[in-house]
Amino acid sequence: MTDTSTQDRVIIFDTTLRDGEQSPGATMTHDEKLEIASLLDEMGVDVIEAGFPIASEGDFAAVSEIAKNSKNSVICGLSRAKVGDIDRCWEAVKHAARPRIHTFIGTSPQHRAIPNLDMDEMADVIHQTVTHARNLCDNIQWSPMDATRTEDDYLCRVVEIAIKAGATTINIPDTVGYTAPAESAKIIRMLLERVPGADDIIFATHCHNDLGMATANALAAVDAGARQIECTINGLGERAGNTALEEVVMAMRVRNDIMPYQTGIDTTKIMNLSRMVATVSGFPVQYNKAIVGKNAFAHESGIHQDGMLKSADTFEIMRPEDVGLSETNLVMGKHSGRAALRAKLADLGYDLADNQLKDVFVRFKALADRKKEIFEDDLIALMRDTTSDA
Ligand code: KIV
Ligand code: ZN
Repeated sequence: MTDTSTQDRVIIFDTTLRDGEQSPGATMTHDEKLEIASLLDEMGVDVIEAGFPIASEGDFAAVSEIAKNSKNSVICGLSRAKVGDIDRCWEAVKHAARPRIHTFIGTSPQHRAIPNLDMDEMADVIHQTVTHARNLCDNIQWSPMDATRTEDDYLCRVVEIAIKAGATTINIPDTVGYTAPAESAKIIRMLLERVPGADDIIFATHCHNDLGMATANALAAVDAGARQIECTINGLGERAGNTALEEVVMAMRVRNDIMPYQTGIDTTKIMNLSRMVATVSGFPVQYNKAIVGKNAFAHESGIHQDGMLKSADTFEIMRPEDVGLSETNLVMGKHSGRAALRAKLADLGYDLADNQLKDVFVRFKALADRKKEIFEDDLIALMRDTTSDA
């Protein structure tokens, strides 16, 4: 087992309750948010982005309550680059033992056009709002929204302004899921090389999954020097979602040989949180979703089941227990083989001689051709029919 104690620590920033909840239809109730926040805190999430306090009275109340109840995690609220937003955010997060204000403004040409600010005017707004936030709280995160479509020189300029104004974390959002791993890494490297003061702050990566690259982009940014990953449980988030917490955390754990970073996450709590978020958001997890999908630890084909029965590492790169599942699921269906059938029947208390198994296997295959999945009750009925025919 690798000694991870000397490895660089990657901060896990969970935004299920803010960016995740922004998914159309994923609204959560006050109590549901409190429960999720408490599970995230227990799981070892370093920073919980609990909401957007100016957005509604409900959001303000949830962020305040989460802040009051927080045990270990830093509690963060989001605010636009407006003094009123920042003040409201502070009113909500200030109850936390470790509060953070996160303020942002869109810096790409597409986003600069919305408030109709030129580059210099926007730079002034950034200086004023980050300074204002820093006068309230000593833990300030600043995000140039749509950073990955912002001109390099301007990105370096505004990041420098935010650092000088007191930002302690600079987050680089790939707001529209446009970047790719090599570019995601290049941006972080460029900022570390070109921006004065960059070594004194933490760079974060915040990726969306529009092209299916959110996890890869986040990990590439970490390789280039980012030390905070922003993510959500089940990858919940706007459009195609955000980087999935369970994917980046398990990737760094399973492939620690090539991604030598550690997190403070208790991975055995992953499954429970995934189910909870799926239930309260009303967004079911796709069956083949990495780590938490119903099929992530399930095997039906005969070759795979046979391999799994001999040694789990033939077809599994992580143990189900590591993510909070009790065991691998050998699904019985038409692709299953004799070894899996024998093992499943033995679990049910049927110890069969070879000639009996041969007979049952023929009946099992006939049944499996008619039925997609064979459950334990089907096998018990099959055994009953076989014994009564004998
Ligand atoms: O995707 C994004 O740009 C965001 C910011 C508000 C950080 O969620
Ligand atoms: Zn986002």
